[in-house]
Amino acid sequence: MDIADLVLNDHHRQRQAFALLDEIDRKDTEKLQAVWADLAAFLEVHAAAEEAVLYPVVLKESDPTAEETKDAIGDHNKIRDAIARASRAVVGSEDWWDAVGDCRKENTEHMGEEEDEVLPHLRQEVSVQKRSELGLAFEAAKTATQSVHLDESDKDPEEFVAAHT
Ligand SMILES: [Fe+2]
Ligand SMILES: [Fe+2]
Repeated sequence: MDIADLVLNDHHRQRQAFALLDEIDRKDTEKLQAVWADLAAFLEVHAAAEEAVLYPVVLKESDPTAEETKDAIGDHNKIRDAIARASRAVVGSEDWWDAVGDCRKENTEHMGEEEDEVLPHLRQEVSVQKRSELGLAFEAAKTATQSVHLDESDKDPEEFVAAHT
């Protein structure tokens, strides 16, 4: 399965989960927490798996100036920081909704950049076969068993590029 398609699938699932939060009664903090906890964990794993599997190849094959990659790593840090802010706030409080809203905004903007720039260039430069191999590695990295090995910490964009070129 093409990693570019699999990334799109994940993005759709993220948009749906944020939309699900819209539908929950704001007083039902138990349900808000349950849906948010799954979404936050998924956002973390998705970004870390992209950093482990996708962006090293993007850097070598389809992002010669490294600008797309640096921008993406910076965006992932902003998404992770908003998740951390939400985790420190009381679920359902104004601070919590602010953090969740910031996370959604950063993530929506970031997904657009991946979908309009990173993935199109990957499709142009990397063969279907290689994208299919990457897709398998991407899905394996996100499984419950293997995702514990992913690095979900913030990363310096310049250091990330230096480490993978
Ligand atoms: Fe990303
Ligand atoms: Fe993504």
